[in-house]
Amino acid sequence: MKITRYCKIDGTNLNADCLKRAAGVLRWGGIVAFPTETVYGLGANAFNAEAVAKVFAAKGRPADNPLIVHIAREGDISCLAREIPSVAYLLMDHFWPGPLTLILPRTEAVPDIVTAGLDTVGIRMPDHPLALALLEKARVPVAAPSANLSGRPSPTTGIEVLRDLAGKADFVIDGGMAKVGVESTVLDLTVNPPLILRPGGISKEELEAVLGEVRLDPALSLQEEGSKLKPKSPGMKYTHYAPKALVTVVMGSTGEKIKTLDRLVREARESGMRVGLLLTEETARACREKVAKPHYLEILGSQYCLETIANRLFGALRRCDRWHLDVVFAEGVKQEGLGLAIMNRLTKAAGHRVLWV
Ligand code: TXA
Ligand code: MG
Repeated sequence: MKITRYCKIDGTNLNADCLKRAAGVLRWGGIVAFPTETVYGLGANAFNAEAVAKVFAAKGRPADNPLIVHIAREGDISCLAREIPSVAYLLMDHFWPGPLTLILPRTEAVPDIVTAGLDTVGIRMPDHPLALALLEKARVPVAAPSANLSGRPSPTTGIEVLRDLAGKADFVIDGGMAKVGVESTVLDLTVNPPLILRPGGISKEELEAVLGEVRLDPALSLQEEGSKLKPKSPGMKYTHYAPKALVTVVMGSTGEKIKTLDRLVREARESGMRVGLLLTEETARACREKVAKPHYLEILGSQYCLETIANRLFGALRRCDRWHLDVVFAEGVKQEGLGLAIMNRLTKAAGHRVLWV
């Protein structure tokens, strides 16, 4: 166990002393958890293979799952990627800094451990003042996966990072709650049309508005989940985001959902299980007095405000553990805009148990 230094910084205090110290830790081979606009990341100097190995060890992350490299300036991309197509610059202009990771052929400067041996590298510029200030001060690109133990929901607050990584990370910078709440969209630019490998903070529709045609890795679509399609992004094949409870996603009309939830909650309670519901505001309201009382109810937000639902989702999944729930029924949302990323994370948390009623 190592000593983890923890520091809470206001997003406007970019000259905070501990930001400088954390940058030094990064530059000299330590590992630092820091806030981004999507989720917290656990970073290491991307050019230092030994430092990157510490990130894999701290998370218990499988070695075949590559990391995203974070940069503070567009120009840094040329040290990391080659054969950069013009669409990459178009996308950077539109969406950087922001929740979009571009997959490009890598240069030899990027160690194998970062890309898990692939000849491509994922790069993004986070839209968070503290992340950008840290990267500027460290003066190295930073390879950073989400700052959770492998398999757990990604952390959206500094306290959640500490719950997973105290004694494992060298430094934790707490910059408050992450704005977006789901991770970046991973977009493969080595194929034409570009291919979404992981839906995230930038929607398919937003990308299409700039690029025209954009495809979704067929292994990701909900209908295909039962099939044996192999996702192109290594990370997408792992069980992920799962609380200890058995999660089921419930989809259908409000009337049917209410009837089904009432039956499911009763059955769970009768068999002595602790049951939780994660619902949209509209369904929660319609459920009042019509659905048996669960041990835990979390309202994720209005179905018309997917930003709120995305923002609360991972925290809600983590709270299911703290309430020691055995089973959780989570309401699904429409797979449009941010809804695609929300449903991707929810169905993964549910091990693809989706109940259509
Ligand atoms: O928003 C985010 O992307 C956050 C913050 C910290 O930036 N990071 C994050 O990293 O979510 P991580 O490691 O949890 O997820 C990275 C995803 C994985 O699914 C990985 O397989 C994929 O990106 N990935 C990374 N490099 C890749 C590559 N060269 N080719 C295909 N997929 C890649
Ligand atoms: Mg992750």
